[in-house]
Amino acid sequence: MKKLIGLDKVKTAVFISGTGSNLKNLIKFSLKKNSPISINLVISNKKNAKGLKYVNQKKIEKKIINFIKTKESEKKILNLLIKKKIAFICLAGFMKILSNNFLKRFNGKVINIHPSLLPKYKGLNTHKRVLKNNEKFSGCTVHYVAARLDAGKIILQKKIKIAKTDKENTLKNKILREEHKLYPKAIKKIFN
Ligand code: GRF
Repeated sequence: MKKLIGLDKVKTAVFISGTGSNLKNLIKFSLKKNSPISINLVISNKKNAKGLKYVNQKKIEKKIINFIKTKESEKKILNLLIKKKIAFICLAGFMKILSNNFLKRFNGKVINIHPSLLPKYKGLNTHKRVLKNNEKFSGCTVHYVAARLDAGKIILQKKIKIAKTDKENTLKNKILREEHKLYPKAIKKIFN
């Protein structure tokens, strides 16, 4: 990825579907002087996504695109991204799969955070499956988005120990806390 020139920050869009704790955290990070990115657009496929409240607070432009027809939705998004000169995309709990075609247009510029130690536990219900298998460790991964689900090149990973007392929600919260540290770190790694 190209180095930052001067004080220009890389115009970034964040895609969400739900709670948006990573979005909240990325907004906070982007406002720091040493952040390589600015968040200029947030896209949600759900109009009631809780995370949208953070966008409203900071007056960031948002767009709801329902993704019922993927092709048309992606076309709308692409036009918007071009219009807003977005150069980088962070997926943060975005529950739709982007097409190969879309990813080609943003080749190597779309990243995602996943709550497992990829390549293990791709897909949904990660914590439930990890606990069922009596894993001793879990964690989170920031990776480039490739056409195959959760299979792109890994940028950074954080491993945590699972306590015997951990349940799905305690593990989820433990890992989310790590996600909030790891996502900014990975973005810095890409641009610095
Ligand atoms: C996170 O666990 C992330 O790793 C996964 O979806 C969850 C989103 O959480 N992709 P939030 O909406 O950022 O709170």
